[in-house]
Amino acid sequence: MEVSNRPYPSVEIKIDRILENARTVQGICREHGIRLSMVTKVLSDNLEVVSHLVDAGIDCICEARIDNLISYRELDVEKWLIRIPMLSEVKDVVRFADASLNSEMETVRALNREAAHQHRVHNVILMYELGDLREGMMRDELMASVREFGELENVHLYGLGVNLSCYGQVLPSERNMAEFRQVVRDVEEEIGRPLEIVSGGNSTSMEMLVAGTLPPAINNLRMGEAIFFGNLPCKDRPIDFLNRDNFVLRTQIIELKEKPSMPWGNQGDVNALGVSTQFVDRGIRKRALVALGRQDVNLYDIQPLDKQINVLGCSSDHTILDVTDSERDYKLGDIVEFRLDYAGLLALMTTKHVSRKIV
Ligand SMILES: Cc1ncc(COP(=O)(O)O)c(C=O)c1O
Repeated sequence: MEVSNRPYPSVEIKIDRILENARTVQGICREHGIRLSMVTKVLSDNLEVVSHLVDAGIDCICEARIDNLISYRELDVEKWLIRIPMLSEVKDVVRFADASLNSEMETVRALNREAAHQHRVHNVILMYELGDLREGMMRDELMASVREFGELENVHLYGLGVNLSCYGQVLPSERNMAEFRQVVRDVEEEIGRPLEIVSGGNSTSMEMLVAGTLPPAINNLRMGEAIFFGNLPCKDRPIDFLNRDNFVLRTQIIELKEKPSMPWGNQGDVNALGVSTQFVDRGIRKRALVALGRQDVNLYDIQPLDKQINVLGCSSDHTILDVTDSERDYKLGDIVEFRLDYAGLLALMTTKHVSRKIV
């Protein structure tokens, strides 16, 4: 994808702050005997940033899309595909991923056949369903699957994983971690060897990690949001020892006018994006139209740094701001800055219309 190199809209990536977070989190993980697999998917494919992370000592990266791993193929780092592979992509998964998370034996068998074809052995981390209800096998299926690995020569049971805090908002707890630990024990007993990877969760495991309450059996965590945003997902709470505000979105004012706050004329039920909007009559207001829209990001995922700006709405390519109350006397061509959340960055890094500036 040819990404825009225009000055705006742009996302500034504060690389030093992110690298500092990565080193801090990796250090804490190491103190607790845990290997950090860094989830870089929020960057879409950004070779420059991921190369910095690898240089800083990150030795395992996780992506949800195989295309991103293909972009990173030259990097000397272990690469995991963390979204369950599609049957249609097993060829690339075997070629470009060192390991993949799996929850369907039919897919694992397909990976086995493809790996035999490519004269390789592919590492599989089987996912156990711990209650968050996204990917994962229930216990009986998991035990049967583990046994089947004995018959599959070109896939290696690399480990077990669980995923929490994604769909069901389920947090890691001593109780569900103890359940996972027991499943790990049973699997290790079944296969007669310790698993190399016991991957116990994501950024929401940070509190248990720091408190030292994760079971010792857990030797891996896959973390993204904590490192990129210094934020604890699900609780949406800052992690006080990590840097926040590591990204800034900037765009330019393309129209600046005083206008009434109430539309006039016959109104339909919804706007151009299919949304019904309530308007409040606040008289004549100073409104700035900026070059950014729903095609780039969801409004709920960005927040003006100038707290006196009120975001009124957007269409696919425009965002409408009320700047009347701001202390700054905005002019046409001025730049407006926004803070982002994880979902906002994910969207902005996926579009080719937003430039990236690594500082
Ligand atoms: C399977 C899997 N593991 C780990 C993560 C990382 O989650 P977080 O960014 O909350 O650390 C994600 C989310 O991207 C995921 O899908």
